Amino acid sequence: MDAKLQERIAAVFPRPADVPEAFRLPKPVEQREYLLGGEIRSWPGELREVRSAVCLRGGPGGGPEPARLGAFPLLTEKEAAEALAAARRAYDSGRGQWPTMPVAERIRHVEAFAFRMKEKRDEVVRLLMWEIGKTLKDSQKEFDRTVEYIAGTIDALKELDRVSSRFSIVEGIIAQIRRAPLGVVLCMGPYNYPLNETFTTLIPALIMGNCAVFKPPRMGVLLFRPLLEAFRDSFPPGVVNTVYGEGRKVAGPMMAGGDVECLAFIGSSKAADVLKHQHPKPHRLRCVLGLDAKNAAIVMADADLDLAVAECVLGALSFNGQRCTAIKIIFVDRKVAKEFTQRLAAAVDKLAFGMPWTDGVSITPLPEPGKPGYLAELIAEAKAGGAEVLNAGGGAANATYFHPAVVYPVKPGMRLWTEAQFGPVVPVAPFDDVEEPVRYVVDSNYGQQVAVFGNDPKQLARLIDPLVNQVCRVNLNSQCQRGPDAFPFAGRKDSAEGTLSLSDALRVFSIRTLVAAKGTPANKEILSRIVREGESSFLSTDFIF
Ligand code: G3H
Repeated sequence: MDAKLQERIAAVFPRPADVPEAFRLPKPVEQREYLLGGEIRSWPGELREVRSAVCLRGGPGGGPEPARLGAFPLLTEKEAAEALAAARRAYDSGRGQWPTMPVAERIRHVEAFAFRMKEKRDEVVRLLMWEIGKTLKDSQKEFDRTVEYIAGTIDALKELDRVSSRFSIVEGIIAQIRRAPLGVVLCMGPYNYPLNETFTTLIPALIMGNCAVFKPPRMGVLLFRPLLEAFRDSFPPGVVNTVYGEGRKVAGPMMAGGDVECLAFIGSSKAADVLKHQHPKPHRLRCVLGLDAKNAAIVMADADLDLAVAECVLGALSFNGQRCTAIKIIFVDRKVAKEFTQRLAAAVDKLAFGMPWTDGVSITPLPEPGKPGYLAELIAEAKAGGAEVLNAGGGAANATYFHPAVVYPVKPGMRLWTEAQFGPVVPVAPFDDVEEPVRYVVDSNYGQQVAVFGNDPKQLARLIDPLVNQVCRVNLNSQCQRGPDAFPFAGRKDSAEGTLSLSDALRVFSIRTLVAAKGTPANKEILSRIVREGESSFLSTDFIF
């Protein structure tokens, strides 16, 4: 690494006074509040300090130190049980105000929440950026995408309701079939998309009539604080409750009590398995899980290498590779491996790095404590096995900053071959026969997506057919990604359980239920009167415009 780059990495963190006025540290959020049963309560007990992914220089220790952002309540099993009880009371075995409310009214509550949420954009975005080190642009994108997701959910529900607002008559039986809620949902999102991925389960769960307890992830907690009042004011008491603290202490006991009907969890498969197995009656639990992945890219000899490099850089290094959908290993035909890896390393060298508010920056500090050390271990092990870091300064670290590294050639047996690194390390492996990467995908514990780069339609078709039965999305000459949100987002093996998309999420958080009657004159009269007199929210032919 040249001295200049070394200097830039050493000086990557600013002094407090160097942070531009507009992006200064938010005032520390000393959060004691949590939302329980429609009340914002104040926690008198222990708090957990929140440190930023971003370090500041010139602190008492001299070196860069993660900036302090505030603290949040370390609730205990007792408050978790109270939150669950509040959700149960609101649900009231399906007889509560929320689960029996007409769909159009529930939509109005969610719209009211979205309106209030939008007022908090700047506050939430700033906390998102400081808490997890996501670039300003991506933090804004996450917020806006979430607001759009809420609007899209409302549209999808209107559509679903329109289809259900009619009777069917089959074999002389009259029925109205609708989707009904499941009960109490425990929602937990991941740190890399704390707002978006929590809300892509929480909002559909709520709008379908479920009541929820949600727990923010380990990192990305304070950004929910500005939304607590909006939750309190937009929903009937107990429909939304929040818990904070260690998963083991708060989520585990909620699951073990057996009163959670649905677990919506986005995070590691290891943590999901623990939670799931704590439930005493697994057959009563529906799980909606978005888990780890080790998405592979396969670069064929005839691929447009400029395009493949650009998409692989984006796929592997957006938000520092901290996406479940990130490309986490690249296979390249040995015939073009040299050319491809040289161009890839050059493209990584060009990426701007620095603080999340800096214009055009791609690589930013990492929020997970210990992550740079873990990534360094992966690289050291690969190097010991004969791999090299191809780009300048790859793997150099300074506190929470880790310079992206292209590692080549990665081989079976190396940790980078199998572990989902979830960080800015790009392992590349050459292949002689395309069967090798296909075998890799088949043998992998994960099954989310792959990206295939090539130009021969025949060859691509021969790859697509086996791969669609291994993963849930094959991307052609494009990086892996979740969006657009109208598309199904799913995974096989250790990568997911259930499918999410705007319309699928409404389905996973509900169950079809019907009212059926033999078509006798008396039953027809009863049904007509119920509908005509608007006596039931379920039996209704109202059309939501
Ligand atoms: O972390 C996983 C996210 O769902 C990925 O979403 O592909 O839009 O970044 P994305």
